[in-house]
Amino acid sequence: MGREVLSCRGVWFRYPDGTEALRGVSFSVHQGEVVVLLGPNGAGKTTLLLVLAGLLEPSKGRVFFRGRDVRELGPELRKYVGLVFQDPDDQLFCPTVFDDIAFALRQIGLPEEEIRIRVLDLARELGIEHLLDKAPYRLSYGEKKKVAIATVLIYGPEVLLMDEPTASLSPRYVRFLEELVAEGVDSGRTFVIATQDVDFAYEVADYAYVLVEGRVEAEGRPGELLSDPELLEKAELREPRKLSEILLKRTGLAELPGRP
Ligand SMILES: Nc1ncnc2c1ncn2[C@@H]1O[C@H](COP(=O)(O)OP(=O)(O)OP(=O)(O)O)[C@@H](O)[C@H]1O
Ligand SMILES: [Mg+2]
Repeated sequence: MGREVLSCRGVWFRYPDGTEALRGVSFSVHQGEVVVLLGPNGAGKTTLLLVLAGLLEPSKGRVFFRGRDVRELGPELRKYVGLVFQDPDDQLFCPTVFDDIAFALRQIGLPEEEIRIRVLDLARELGIEHLLDKAPYRLSYGEKKKVAIATVLIYGPEVLLMDEPTASLSPRYVRFLEELVAEGVDSGRTFVIATQDVDFAYEVADYAYVLVEGRVEAEGRPGELLSDPELLEKAELREPRKLSEILLKRTGLAELPGRP
């Protein structure tokens, strides 16, 4: 495994209304690793991603990118760490899908012709080419999710933070996303993914954190965490289908007849 890329130590975060969303969270992800954040609604997954992206400043504790405190790095962090928001409406704000995907490249001042080529290539790869001239607010929710992912993939940050990327995507597109993550890892990228989708998590993750009420309830290999009945109960999760199949085969129950 590569070296530690992004981490935090003893992070607390309190929203202005007093909600204590993170209560002493320590986390780390290594280069080329896929880490998932699991846990019930309101557990603090999104808040942790926002803290890791440098968009929220912890009330206590520190965040490090390659060993440097992100407060020292400032806005430079954005070059290295990209976040796909849970709500695509937080990500998309341009008049057209093309402009939204092109945004980061225009920020770094690439020539427009180069931008066109890159945006078209990525849009083709993601199957959203037909949406490029549309206004983002007119897209379906699933289409928005795909475009939101594209706006980050386009500039290829080293670390991709994704918040519920599979929500509202068709099953076939979820498979596609799994491949995309695997390819990303092959080219040295690092992923931190908050998700309620245990099948997706089991498929892509090397390591998992389970958050409950702003604390790390458990961390470890997805196969171990996701087969622990007590933990699944606490985290309001279910066992991934693949794991259930393996267990069924072992107990011979898979041989039972199905519907008559
Ligand atoms: N802007 C905000 N102001 C006040 N409280 C907030 C705000 N955003 C989130 N919270 C609260 O912080 C806690 C953690 O929320 P967060 O969105 O991080 O959870 P989550 O694990 O991502 O949940 P979900 O699975 O529903 O996306 C919740 O109790 C939530 O109500
Ligand atoms: Mg969330």
